[in-house]
Amino acid sequence: MQTEYSTSALPEPLNFIQDEVCNRPDLKKMKAIVYHKYGTPDVLELKETEKPVPDDNEVLIKVHAASINDWDWGLLHGDFINRILNGLLKPKRKVLGSDIAGRVEAIGKNVNQFKPGDEVYGDLSGQWGGFAEYVCAKEKSLALKPASMSFEEAAAIPQAAMLAVQGLIDKGKIKPGQKLLINGAGGGVGLFGIQIAKLYGVEVTGVDSTAKLDMMRSMGFDHVIDYTKEDFSRNGICYDLILDVKTTRSMFAYARSLCRNGVYITVGGSLGRLFQAMFLAPWIRLIRKKHIRVVALKTNKDLAYMNELYESGKLKVVIDGPYKLEQLPEAFRHFGKAAHKGKIVITI
Ligand SMILES: NC(=O)c1ccc[n+]([C@@H]2O[C@H](COP(=O)([O-])OP(=O)(O)OC[C@H]3O[C@@H](n4cnc5c(N)ncnc54)[C@H](OP(=O)(O)O)[C@@H]3O)[C@@H](O)[C@H]2O)c1
Repeated sequence: MQTEYSTSALPEPLNFIQDEVCNRPDLKKMKAIVYHKYGTPDVLELKETEKPVPDDNEVLIKVHAASINDWDWGLLHGDFINRILNGLLKPKRKVLGSDIAGRVEAIGKNVNQFKPGDEVYGDLSGQWGGFAEYVCAKEKSLALKPASMSFEEAAAIPQAAMLAVQGLIDKGKIKPGQKLLINGAGGGVGLFGIQIAKLYGVEVTGVDSTAKLDMMRSMGFDHVIDYTKEDFSRNGICYDLILDVKTTRSMFAYARSLCRNGVYITVGGSLGRLFQAMFLAPWIRLIRKKHIRVVALKTNKDLAYMNELYESGKLKVVIDGPYKLEQLPEAFRHFGKAAHKGKIVITI
């Protein structure tokens, strides 16, 4: 009898089910959205592919929801950095999707934190494969999902919330009474950022485009700035902290908007701007007494904190959608137009 999974860690009845599964060719297949060349969302296709098989250190998850991140967009289009990561001429990993939530279906023999039936979520960046019915993940990429959190909410959290937490708390050392500005505030990171900032009693200004400002006010931003009408770096106001999602200005413009000893933190933007941030940081600190910091994402580090906030009613997850798996190209187009409010979620 051929067994594909390491079932030694499963209780006997589940072991039996697993063997049944492995003898059914139809159950070794799954639906996934795949791409074979870099390009626009038009290159994404719904296909039947091989169901993945977990190795000894992996968990097989039946995916219930996934969300789109900026990194998926970069991998789809194949910009320079993402071609280095996923193949110069064509994508090596053919299924995108890093943020997922689902139920554990099987575990490898070395897995001890999870068991079949557990509801889990996490960011599978580096491995990807989330826009599919099943995906395999390392234990360390997953956290248990609180029962009260829906799969859609859970899938929206990992990457954007980690960037917000690590930007504001780890790098920014946010403190009560400060004035914070979030640039690119109406997307995934910004909407987690405002909620974390409010727990610290901070006055928050959000910058984004016209269509997102009402939603941002409803999420608790004290002030909103429409970047199509006003340049915050020239309004004469200084901020103790700036969290930047897009890095659309020069480091000198950000330094101008910081109060003395203020901290600017970028989570992403063009490579040129990020290099500029790293190169100029020591000079701006020396001459202007202002600090420039860059977040390098530590995936899934603070999911336990997210669970705590969610369970105590302090975290609201803003979902755009949900879309069905077969609507993923449409969801990506929506993401590409930056028309989304919060996180675009796909249900599977
Ligand atoms: N540091 C790391 O290790 C790491 C890892 C993964 C991802 N990232 C980065 O994290 C970021 C993800 O952010 P996210 O999920 O919040 O993205 P998002 O959901 O796309 O939100 C970005 C927001 O910025 C707005 N925006 C665009 N141009 C702007 C401008 N000139 N001024 C102000 N706002 C502007 C967009 O709306 P409009 O277009 O309507 O204006 C959108 O609401 C990306 O930059 C990604 O590269 C970093």
